[in-house]
Amino acid sequence: GQDMYVCLCKGVTDCQIREAVCEGACSMRELRTHLGVATQCGRCAQHAQRVLKETLNTASGKENNKAA
Ligand code: FES
Repeated sequence: GQDMYVCLCKGVTDCQIREAVCEGACSMRELRTHLGVATQCGRCAQHAQRVLKETLNTASGKENNKAA
């Protein structure tokens, strides 16, 4: 798919964030711990949070679609 850098300081892509969410991360704190995202300059924090939320929404949305 389309890999995009979310965090340049730590070289974290949106894909990596999605993977971390799939593995159970559901907060920025967990993403920081697992990936180091937003631990340097912090400029990526908002973007990372958006990817996190989108992924959480998509994940639950998929379940709903399956049920429907
Ligand atoms: Fe993520 Fe700087 S771009 S901490």
